[in-house]
Amino acid sequence: MNRDTICVQGGYTPGNGEPRQVPIIQSTTFKYATSEDMGKLFDLEANGYFYSRLQNPTCDIVAKKICELEGGTAAMLTSSGQAANFFALFNICEAGDHIVASSTIYGGTFNLISVTMAKMGITATFVDPLCTEEELDAAFQPNTKAVFGETIANPALTVLDIEKFAKAAHAHGVPLIVDNTFPTPVNCRPFEWGADIVTHSTTKYMDGHGAAVGGAIVDSGKFDWMAHAEKFSGLCTPDDSYHGITYAERFGKEGAFITKATAQLMRDFGSTQSPMSAYMLNLGLESLHVRMQRHCENGMAVAKFLESHPKVAYVNYCGLESSPYHALARKYLPNGSCGVVSFGLAGGREAASTFMKALKLAAIETHVADARTCCLNPASSTHRQMNDEQLRAAGVPAELVRMSCGLESSEDLIADIAQALDQI
Ligand SMILES: Cc1ncc(COP(=O)(O)O)c(C=O)c1O
Repeated sequence: MNRDTICVQGGYTPGNGEPRQVPIIQSTTFKYATSEDMGKLFDLEANGYFYSRLQNPTCDIVAKKICELEGGTAAMLTSSGQAANFFALFNICEAGDHIVASSTIYGGTFNLISVTMAKMGITATFVDPLCTEEELDAAFQPNTKAVFGETIANPALTVLDIEKFAKAAHAHGVPLIVDNTFPTPVNCRPFEWGADIVTHSTTKYMDGHGAAVGGAIVDSGKFDWMAHAEKFSGLCTPDDSYHGITYAERFGKEGAFITKATAQLMRDFGSTQSPMSAYMLNLGLESLHVRMQRHCENGMAVAKFLESHPKVAYVNYCGLESSPYHALARKYLPNGSCGVVSFGLAGGREAASTFMKALKLAAIETHVADARTCCLNPASSTHRQMNDEQLRAAGVPAELVRMSCGLESSEDLIADIAQALDQI
């Protein structure tokens, strides 16, 4: 099926007389006639549900839709994008292991990898996404277990050369994990370019209405864990905590990763998505293809307007020909990227502050990828503890404004931006 059709109808085909809309199975637990029936579920010998911390039918329907959209073989929902990225990495990394990651990833993920996972004994090397193949190769260590990047990074808006990163990962016998939150599978399917695992903060465009925090992990089913069994013992040797199951043997390339993440990590960490949130996420997915088109049109219109304005020093948007990421965007994002644009005001910190105060339509929020346009000046909010020098080093200079273009009329958005620039 075409991606547009999957957005609307994927994951769920009701039978005769069954509900047309995805049912919300708001139940923590499920009833069985015999202990033997339930035992088979615990032994992963039968499919079914026993406790919603591990799996829930509503969540599975929505995960299936996201799986179909990405062209994967298995998927799961998580409580947030943070949980999705943590699970995707921790499913194959343990104390003593190492990750190679793009340096421009979302701050929360950067912190997760560089601080929290470091406390667990997992180290990382961060590389410039525009590094050469040789520089990328040099970042690997014998204990490297995964490569991580974002298709379009938040908030740097860099575009990942997925093929380059996949080639390097595979040359070292490890998978490439790509956070595909910003373009969504409507604008890019990383598996088609060699990525092995895809993650999402479904909180963003997939939900699209600022309604429900959530995440997702999708497996391409292509990475051959058994061919690198010495690196991935968690998948390729018996799991004592799960009745001695060897995931890669029992569930193959197609199912091992998600089965292990569900059976082991969901069981132990419980970062599950609620059925109600999954239902709302599905409502968002039903219009994702239509909304992404408008988000991209508005992003491009705003970026072009800003680029031509004398009070704007620079604009970061990969759709613009002036962007250093334009060639990568044409390759990986031919139908559009996303609605997030960032730009610097020529007047510096003070100009950014005046501009933000003067906006009428665009609201000040830490969020992005919402139906309503929102914006943020990191220097005066999320990064306010830093001085100008520290801000520059962190890639969020004082004059930078991140604007997430919503679904309003681009004429109205530009008029709002123009009047706010006039106030400077
Ligand atoms: C690219 C990206 N990945 C992951 C996350 C974390 O997602 P969540 O806020 O749903 O935990 C975010 C949040 O902004 C993000 O932008």
